[in-house]
Amino acid sequence: MKKDLLSLLDLEKDDFDRLFKRAIQLKQRYAKGIFDNVLTGKTLGLIFDKKSTRTRLAFETAMVQLGGHPIYMSAQDTQIARSEPPKDTARVLSRYIDCLAIRTFDQSLVEEFAQNATIPVINALTDAFHPCQILSDIMTVVEHKGGYKDVKIAWVGDGNNVANSWINAASILGFDLRVACPDEYGINPQIIEAVSAKGDNNVVYTNDPKEAVKDADVVYTDVWASMGDEAQLAKRIIDFEGFQVNKELLFGAKDDVMVMHCLPAHRGEEISEDVLEDKNSVFWDQAENKRHMHKAILENLILGN
Ligand code: CP
Ligand code: NVA
Repeated sequence: MKKDLLSLLDLEKDDFDRLFKRAIQLKQRYAKGIFDNVLTGKTLGLIFDKKSTRTRLAFETAMVQLGGHPIYMSAQDTQIARSEPPKDTARVLSRYIDCLAIRTFDQSLVEEFAQNATIPVINALTDAFHPCQILSDIMTVVEHKGGYKDVKIAWVGDGNNVANSWINAASILGFDLRVACPDEYGINPQIIEAVSAKGDNNVVYTNDPKEAVKDADVVYTDVWASMGDEAQLAKRIIDFEGFQVNKELLFGAKDDVMVMHCLPAHRGEEISEDVLEDKNSVFWDQAENKRHMHKAILENLILGN
């Protein structure tokens, strides 16, 4: 049975732990100049309906460094742009490639691809989720904090795709997560319902960023207007007042608080210039770790191990 990665709710705790371990091992081996050519002869297709720097590069370089080959398909240059249905495209692509990563708007589109493809399908970001991002970010937490179990994580900002994937991860891994969003921009109740069925109380929702960051080990933020929401930016800048991650807000967190951001960042909006440029920041480690984690994900899904 092929596996897909459409949201983090597709994974069990053991799957997370295996991926963290393997990604860290692959990172260490790469640092020693060891290439694991486990995907020789395999191909990854990438269909991106939204812009990307890190995720696309992480998938492409991961594939090459594992001995495989990535094929980037701009939706505009394929028959998708001339309305070939996703269910047909999914079946055709399954006859050529070994795995497909999709970045698009609707979660239902990646689900439709997955249902009709005989190859693994990976969500490379939708309006609803960004699962691969949070896998590599928790890898960064593990590297810097020695684990994730007793780490208090605060989300400050929009109740968006990245926040949703943090909530999914917390519901499975059990770490403390406090999510602070302005009232109009809170987490979709369906996301909360999907994880509360798991019976955990380790996720707290608030509209007070100070409450969320109190004693936090990690403070995470992301843009106030995600791809697709850009037209609302001016209104959002007003509505998100008090939600900027800056030195003043971080005063309430632990002394060794680690600030994280999936990037790209908008200086002076969700994060201040001095926090972004702090010499101890891990933003660039986060970006690098996407490559190592994407290797672990590709290996796991393509080889089924
Ligand atoms: N963090 C992230 O997904 O970045 P890109 O949009 O550049 O891929
Ligand atoms: N929430 C952002 C993440 C970008 C990596 C977006 O969807 O645009």
